Amino acid sequence: MGKSPEKRNRVFSGVQPTGQLHLGNYLGAIRNWVKLQDSYECLYCVVDLHAITVFQDPKALRASTREVAAALIASGIDPEKSILFNQSRVAAHAELAWIFNCVARIGWLNRMTQFKDKAGKNKEKASVGLYVYPNLMAADILAYKANLVPVGEDQRQHLELTRDIAQKFNNDFGVDHFPLVDPLILQEAARIMSLRDGRQKMSKSDPSDYSRINMTDDTDAIAQKIRKARTDAEPLPVRVKDLANRPEAANLVAIFAALAEKSRDDVCAEYEGKGFADFKKVLTALMVEKLGPITGEMNRLMADHTHIDGILNDGAGRARDLAAPVLRETHEIMGFLGA
Ligand code: TYM
Repeated sequence: MGKSPEKRNRVFSGVQPTGQLHLGNYLGAIRNWVKLQDSYECLYCVVDLHAITVFQDPKALRASTREVAAALIASGIDPEKSILFNQSRVAAHAELAWIFNCVARIGWLNRMTQFKDKAGKNKEKASVGLYVYPNLMAADILAYKANLVPVGEDQRQHLELTRDIAQKFNNDFGVDHFPLVDPLILQEAARIMSLRDGRQKMSKSDPSDYSRINMTDDTDAIAQKIRKARTDAEPLPVRVKDLANRPEAANLVAIFAALAEKSRDDVCAEYEGKGFADFKKVLTALMVEKLGPITGEMNRLMADHTHIDGILNDGAGRARDLAAPVLRETHEIMGFLGA
């Protein structure tokens, strides 16, 4: 049986405007977002409310929000087909997050590994926002009753929490109101690792710029970073499972496979016996071929703030229209007067 209109599949995902977007964001998430536009109604959000869980310089936040929007459009997000907006423009996110602060349990949040990683040893000095960060994520998704969420592996635990929140809300009030979300995680690119240390994920917050490929990097920067990427002296093996104890080598093969849209085994079979000096050359050429046009388009878009701001403004209006009935219904279920 087909789903009723209000229960059809809807995609939501978000990205933080904190510093440079990198290859991990692109391969782990954004590229998948582009493909989903053809099959689903999609909302893509620049999550500026999440960004401020650690202090952001206002000027840098504004610039980064536009840059992320430009990167998404340059990657192929079509703002006519999908809804592209920045989170702070749609009050429903913050409003529903408060409700979810009252649904989620402290014990659930205590288990979140990202909070432990980000807060580090100085937990007492972390913002309260950083602690309840996953509740805002749940609100982002459920304000639209979205059920499909394309992300990298590092977001899996947060999406499990989103399911727990939806389930508890539905149970507490005896309703079937919020859907249980499914994470969409692409195995080949679920976790792109640092170019300097194959055991750490590629991340915006790594102090070394050589650890990541930024979406704004030009050909020279890409070539230099790949040349300097850590590897080992062994050649490529015939099968990917023989890379088990070679994290840096395995990461370069995974990046190649994701960019070429091939399996890692196919890449090993193709380059078996070659050393990494040679493999890095073909990897650089492929990366420049795939990222170069996106970077060029991003730079072009960044030159016209009015155009980007207009797209975000339009997206926010459409997002508000979708969230309003969900919030109204939520209030009614909970007994808020005046709904
Ligand atoms: P953020 O901004 O850290 O990352 C955006 C997306 O990129 C993915 N990603 C990676 N994938 C593979 N390898 C990597 N090294 C890598 N680094 C990042 C992330 O998994 C993510 O999909 N909390 C989220 C943003 C968010 C959100 C949401 C996501 C806010 N609300 C609702 C989904 C649904 C975050 O900080 O992503």
